[in-house]
Amino acid sequence: MLKGKRILLIVAGGIAAFKSLELIRRLRERGASVRCVLTEAGAKFVTPLSLQALSEDRVYSDMFSLTDESEMGHIQLSRDADLLVVAPATANILARMAGGLADDLAATVLLATDKPVLAAPAMNVRMWTHAATVANVETLKQRGIHFVGPNDGAMACNEFGPGRMSEPEEIADAIEELLAPAEQPLAGKRAVVTSGPTREAIDPVRYISNHSSGKQGHAIASALAALGADVALVSGPVSIADPPGLRTVHVDSADQMLAACLAAGRIDIAVCAAAVADWKATRPSGSKIKKKAGTAPPSLELTPNPDILATLSKPGPQRPALVVGFAAETENLVANAIDKRQRKGCDWIVANDVSPAVGTFGGERNTVHLISASGVEDWPTLAKGEVAMRLAGRIALHFSLPPKAEAAE
Ligand code: CTP
Repeated sequence: MLKGKRILLIVAGGIAAFKSLELIRRLRERGASVRCVLTEAGAKFVTPLSLQALSEDRVYSDMFSLTDESEMGHIQLSRDADLLVVAPATANILARMAGGLADDLAATVLLATDKPVLAAPAMNVRMWTHAATVANVETLKQRGIHFVGPNDGAMACNEFGPGRMSEPEEIADAIEELLAPAEQPLAGKRAVVTSGPTREAIDPVRYISNHSSGKQGHAIASALAALGADVALVSGPVSIADPPGLRTVHVDSADQMLAACLAAGRIDIAVCAAAVADWKATRPSGSKIKKKAGTAPPSLELTPNPDILATLSKPGPQRPALVVGFAAETENLVANAIDKRQRKGCDWIVANDVSPAVGTFGGERNTVHLISASGVEDWPTLAKGEVAMRLAGRIALHFSLPPKAEAAE
């Protein structure tokens, strides 16, 4: 049920806009109130009058209309809702959202909101699979925009494939799921997650680093936060956005990453997903190292970096109740990971195969094994977000069990 929930429905210009009329009905049947924003292109497909009749509220479309602004400013409109729903979400409005444009009321409201946003894409199959749309959707997902659909099927343009907007019932279900009070089994728990690579300076312009994208670590931080944990994400330099709903601390080097973890104070959960550079330059140069004609290339002397996982795993009153590490292996995955769990002193190891053929680094999917004192669990290949949710779920289960029940988990 959606009793008492306020939905701001943004109707953009696509043939699927006619389904939005049905969506208003479905949402109101479930107890929600619906207020509509109609784009100029949307008005070519449905009339403001139909939306108004079905929503029993006025329809907003003009950013500069005096009555709109005097009765309700666009900022208030964007916040006076529990959820913003973009249906149909055309390629154009997704691009405008990804680009941060505010060139009409719909885009402005989407930019100004502090509420969750659900998009129901609807477009021609080639538009949906175009690299520009794929990149825009990826950007929006990383920023926390939720998506439902599109479905496969025959399109109005006589083509077949993904691009059909989800049915009103499916969209209403997705809305209900999003607005359902989330279970927060990790409420009151504090967590630190390390993510991404580290950068170890050789001189002011050169560094040692690796290919870690931070996708897995960032997803774990989000999943723990979604279950109610108070999360500090300590991230090396990555090109993905800070996840919403938690604190991100940006660092460069392993030394800085360790300091940021220790500065978090007493924590219950530590997940070390960062690909920390094992070595740093012993004496990084304060100025750019220059080539000198006729002399041999300089040699680089390396010193081991502090091991953040092993440091956090050290027994003592400050030790988090649960420390989870990752093992990136290209051979003897499980055996090496079991050994690594013991060497580092952590509780669990998430072992993943990073052979180039598997494409874990930078990729979207991950095949992992969870290694604990009680044995090895093989997980199926999952999207990194799903690995994160499953791991967060396991962590929540761990804290819900009496201390001795670990072996039975
Ligand atoms: N780790 C860390 N600090 C380091 C090195 C690693 O916290 N200085 C953590 C990583 O975040 C990860 C685990 O330790 O959780 C990985 O251990 P590591 O010994 O680096 O193993 P691999 O990267 O798997 O590689 P190798 O065994 O080849 O050293």
